[in-house]
Amino acid sequence: ALVSMRQMLDHAAENDYGIPAFNVNNLEQVRAIMTAASDTDSPVILQASAGARKYAGAPFLRHLILAAVEEFPHLPIAMHQDHGTSPAVCQRSIQLGFSSVMMDGSLMEDGKTPSSYEYNVDVTRRTVEMAHACGVSVEGELGCLGSLETGEAGEEDGIGADVILTHDQMLTDPEEAADFVKKTQVDALAIACGTSHGAYKFTRPPTGDILAIDRIKEINRRIPNTHLVMHGSSSVPQDWLAVINEFGGAIPETYGVPVEQIQEGIKNGVRKVNIDTDLRLASTGAIRRFMAENQAEFDPRKYLSKTVDAMADICRARYEAFNAAGQA
Ligand code: G3H
Ligand code: 13P
Ligand code: NA
Ligand code: ZN
Repeated sequence: ALVSMRQMLDHAAENDYGIPAFNVNNLEQVRAIMTAASDTDSPVILQASAGARKYAGAPFLRHLILAAVEEFPHLPIAMHQDHGTSPAVCQRSIQLGFSSVMMDGSLMEDGKTPSSYEYNVDVTRRTVEMAHACGVSVEGELGCLGSLETGEAGEEDGIGADVILTHDQMLTDPEEAADFVKKTQVDALAIACGTSHGAYKFTRPPTGDILAIDRIKEINRRIPNTHLVMHGSSSVPQDWLAVINEFGGAIPETYGVPVEQIQEGIKNGVRKVNIDTDLRLASTGAIRRFMAENQAEFDPRKYLSKTVDAMADICRARYEAFNAAGQA
């Protein structure tokens, strides 16, 4: 059934687990996530970005998610809009039937320029007023995502990897977070703690606390009743990078967030874990391998079903690792 994100994250907080929120753009991604969730009996967050709406079209996306609700009536599903750039964008998603929206006021409406704190409070507070009147939950964001190793912002909807952030900008301030939550009444807060969007997070194999775990702890102590969200949480599986490069790809050496670091976050209040890149890498690897090994094949169902299997493996592993398995 379609449920509000708040309800789902409250349950995760009461039972100390995290929920992976996977980005969806097409049928294969939805089917992979739902198969894995059904196999592991996990709650599901399907999230759609502006790019997803542009690719699939809002009605197709909406009906793909509603099809998941229909085919898997035993699983709780949140239909979440990822990275809304204005209250108006969030309002349209609410009208489309989304049960949750993200108002990312950490950036201006162009999705590129970092905003002022006052602007962020204003657009987020207005979105919460509107959304809560409709029973829809809201995720806000405070801080600039960026790799603590490289200082690079990654691909935050238009922010190029050439933007270099200071150490301070890349960590959400606990006091500011408390003020932000008080003023906006958001249900969940995306924090900056050393993750960044995309495949290029770290240039060397990450060891130890590559994320600012102490900062997550401080934020969680200051706002214990706000569910924390970790964006840029792909682990960038080295086995899929190897498959991609073995079969004609050329992805340079790169590393993501180790699953163990995400588990540390979950121990300290992180309840929603955003993952997109890992499923992109798995499907690209699966297609490249199938194409190379089956050169006479031309039925898209043959190679697309390989992408479903590859993505579902990752989804199952994340549901298990975040202790969402068995919680549906
Ligand atoms: O936050 C970014 C997500 O990975 C969505 O990416 O805007 O290319 O759909 P996208
Ligand atoms: P990744 O690029 O690490 O998968 O992060 C996705 C994300 O945060 C979507 O909002
Ligand atoms: Na941000
Ligand atoms: Zn994100």
